[in-house]
Amino acid sequence: MAAVNDGGGVGGVTKGVNSGVAPATYGQGDRPPRGDYASARADYTCEQDWGRYTAEDHALYQRLYERQAAQLPGLACEEFIDAVGQLGTPTQIPRFDALSQRLHRATGWEVVAVPGLIPEEAFFALLAARRFPVTGWIRKPEEFDYVVEPDVFHDLFGHVPLLFNPMFADYMQAYGAGGLKASRLQSCEYLARLYWYTVEFGLIATPAGLRAYGAGILSSAGELRHSVTSPQPQRLAFDLERIMRTRYKIDSYQATYFVIDSFEQLFRATAPDFTPLYEAVSQRDEVAAEATLPGDRVLGL
Ligand code: PHE
Ligand code: CO
Repeated sequence: MAAVNDGGGVGGVTKGVNSGVAPATYGQGDRPPRGDYASARADYTCEQDWGRYTAEDHALYQRLYERQAAQLPGLACEEFIDAVGQLGTPTQIPRFDALSQRLHRATGWEVVAVPGLIPEEAFFALLAARRFPVTGWIRKPEEFDYVVEPDVFHDLFGHVPLLFNPMFADYMQAYGAGGLKASRLQSCEYLARLYWYTVEFGLIATPAGLRAYGAGILSSAGELRHSVTSPQPQRLAFDLERIMRTRYKIDSYQATYFVIDSFEQLFRATAPDFTPLYEAVSQRDEVAAEATLPGDRVLGL
């Protein structure tokens, strides 16, 4: 999410199809509308309609991009930094079709436009098909620091660079397939926590130190530095069952971050069938976002 949390885009915590309510017209001109579900296809994808972005839209994207790009060294993981240039020139909102061509050559993924948050089943189905849904509209200038739901800046800048990484790209597809299964097992809530604590707010331990790989962190003006360097939040070693039990904050910085050692570790740890795990988690108490349990592997800075 933008400055803080994207309550969604994220499998599982979608707010529902009609949540993208906003005045039909704001700013002047014909900017891509916020939450235009009526024009979407059955799979919730829509046209990006690039020509509708205004000069102000492109300028806002550039300001957002440059503020984040300046903070990446020493805080974002190398895989992200290496790929962020693939988004194209920072001076304008990328054309999804051109970006998809580059991405497809790298990992077989493409990006597709959506009107906003979409139902979780539709979200999972797109990921399973290696199609990443990217919100078409961009926030208003007043929302420079914080927007309550994902916009094109969060979705593109936060999520797309790591889709150029083969291991992470495979993880995202597996997550989508796992989501379709979790829906059948009524366990989406647990799987959504995994998305939240990895894809959105994940940290990775590297030889150079702690770094961010989660999109909610990487697209946030303040949380990037906070998550990697502040002594305040708790950082725990990645633990799949612990994550599935743990609630999360949607309106403030995270109280707890989970730290992986590598994308390979993440991919392997999540490869087994989750069916028995969902059952086990359902038998145990939920854990508050800020709690520390006996047995937790707490990491220092
Ligand atoms: N292995 C998971 C399952 O069986 C699928 C999955 C993979 C989920 C990767 C999330 C991430 O449900
Ligand atoms: Co997101």
